[in-house]
Amino acid sequence: MNEIIKAPKGVPEYVAPDSAEFLAVRAGLSTPAINAGYGYIELPMYEDTALYVRGVGASTDVVSKEMFTFTDRGERSISLRPEGTAGVMRSVIENGLDRGQLPIKLWYAGAFFRAERPQAGRYRQLQQVGIEAIGSEDPALDAEVIALADEGYRSLGLTQYTLKLTSLGCSTCRPPYREKLQSFLTGLELDEPTRQRALLNPLRVLDDKRDEVQAQLADAPLQVNFLCVDCQNHYDAVRHFLVLQGVNWEEAPRMVRGLDYYTRTTFEFDHPLLGSQSGIGGGGRYDGLMAELGGQSLSGIGFGLGTDRTLLACRAEGLNVADMSRVDVFLISLGAAAKDFAVSLSSRLRAAGVRVDLSWGDRGLKGSMKAADKSGARFTVVIGDSDLESDTLNIKHMADGTTTATTTHDLVATLQRLSKEN
Ligand code: HAM
Repeated sequence: MNEIIKAPKGVPEYVAPDSAEFLAVRAGLSTPAINAGYGYIELPMYEDTALYVRGVGASTDVVSKEMFTFTDRGERSISLRPEGTAGVMRSVIENGLDRGQLPIKLWYAGAFFRAERPQAGRYRQLQQVGIEAIGSEDPALDAEVIALADEGYRSLGLTQYTLKLTSLGCSTCRPPYREKLQSFLTGLELDEPTRQRALLNPLRVLDDKRDEVQAQLADAPLQVNFLCVDCQNHYDAVRHFLVLQGVNWEEAPRMVRGLDYYTRTTFEFDHPLLGSQSGIGGGGRYDGLMAELGGQSLSGIGFGLGTDRTLLACRAEGLNVADMSRVDVFLISLGAAAKDFAVSLSSRLRAAGVRVDLSWGDRGLKGSMKAADKSGARFTVVIGDSDLESDTLNIKHMADGTTTATTTHDLVATLQRLSKEN
């Protein structure tokens, strides 16, 4: 026998019937954005490596350690997309959307690739639903983006997550804060790699998970206490609009995001039942990104919600997010005339919006009933040649075994009505 080939490491698969949950989560996370007028963008799966180096930041783990990078046949350096924001920005600039109506509101969904060490909830092929709103600094837009994520989680029934919020300041107030933090860090007892990090990216040190480092950071200066007047006003306004939309949050002044482009409003959604991979979504504002990528100097804000982790969170909260049935109606034919009838009936039912499957391979009644059970159908119709002659068909209600009698003429309408009832 040939050796079995397995899926690559760290790549989750969503296979029917469980994939119904995946689709339900993706729809739940994207519907609020669609209802808020975000248009869909299908991004390339890979881009010029320079896009991520410049857009996301050469010193981030995502770019420096986790990208799947290769040289294509034309000797160009290509990377599988590790995230969506840089690609959206490239597309907006390339297609001239920034010269049209602002803000530009776009949503996307799909797989992203990060060569992380796989573990529960941390994958190399991860799924996100994302939105980006570009070309307005209006703090109400920040609140909209956050509220749309919150609504997505709530629509799935999630209740235990928390929203962590902070402001990372701007090009006016961040550099002086950074210097303050750096000089504070210089006075601490840190190992050499952490010292180097303090020089290169001092904010990252705030995120150090080790107790002995955290203990020394208790009095570290925090960006929220050193915001310029504009950033302070902006952050106050964002929180004002969040209150108006009924969104709850926790202040998280030590939050550090893994991507370099964030400015001002920055947020993460955390789920306490997911262990170390608790981030179910995150995002923020990015003031310098478009200019960094050669476009105009327009600000933007967006989020990326982890579809895989949101599904894990739904399971952890015991939620049934999807109808796991494949079909509404299962047709079993016994006899040649009955088979012809069932085949033509299946088309008519599907055209009427009823989900239908049939028993295949002319199995006996027992095997066919087993298939009907497995399909999850709420109704089964067993059709024998004699039923057609007498023009009486019985619709079996699978939940309680009762039947509804009907005629060939009324069958489609009756099944259509029954399958729409709860
Ligand atoms: P991110 O925080 O890197 O942000 O990823 C967003 C979400 O994707 C995370 O909160 C997490 O739920 C999920 N995720 C990330 N990595 C993995 C992984 N290895 N396995 C499973 N899930 C994962 C971004 O990607 C930004 N582009 C979000 C954004 C959009 N900011 C502004 N606009």
